[in-house]
Amino acid sequence: MKGNEKLINVLNQLLADELTAINQYMVHSEMCDNWGYSKLHKAIEKQAFDEMHHAEWLIQRIIFLEGTPAVSKLNPMRIGKTVLEMVSNDQEAEVAAIRAYNDAIRLAHEVDDQVTVDLLIDILKMEEGHEDWAEKQRDQIEQMGLQNYLTNQTEGASD
Ligand SMILES: [Fe+2]
Ligand SMILES: [Fe+2]
Repeated sequence: MKGNEKLINVLNQLLADELTAINQYMVHSEMCDNWGYSKLHKAIEKQAFDEMHHAEWLIQRIIFLEGTPAVSKLNPMRIGKTVLEMVSNDQEAEVAAIRAYNDAIRLAHEVDDQVTVDLLIDILKMEEGHEDWAEKQRDQIEQMGLQNYLTNQTEGASD
């Protein structure tokens, strides 16, 4: 089915955001693993997998709309040097993603593409979950102190 060209371009921009997020989360996840923060490693790895699903769903939709998925474009990566920096950078990326998905949903509505609207809403809900996770980590770091927070992230630390 031939899709709206402007919408396909926007879906490709979202795809670049997702591919960037996959890489940023993977690097952060592996840095946490290297420091022995197993719980953070797993939590961030799970988010990388979520972003992979988003990229997959966008690629499916772009192909269905007879567009060409642009998979070789990445945005600048923002790798944190500390756990707090990582979580803060990831939260900023999620806030930007939430804005971008809301804008794209508005456009999909305008061009009467309800199935794309539904897909984008499903992804948006997950991005809100990611943003909320990052906010919780920052709250915990602020309330219990960085050292206590990080102690809870090691293998065998109580849940
Ligand atoms: Fe995503
Ligand atoms: Fe996300």
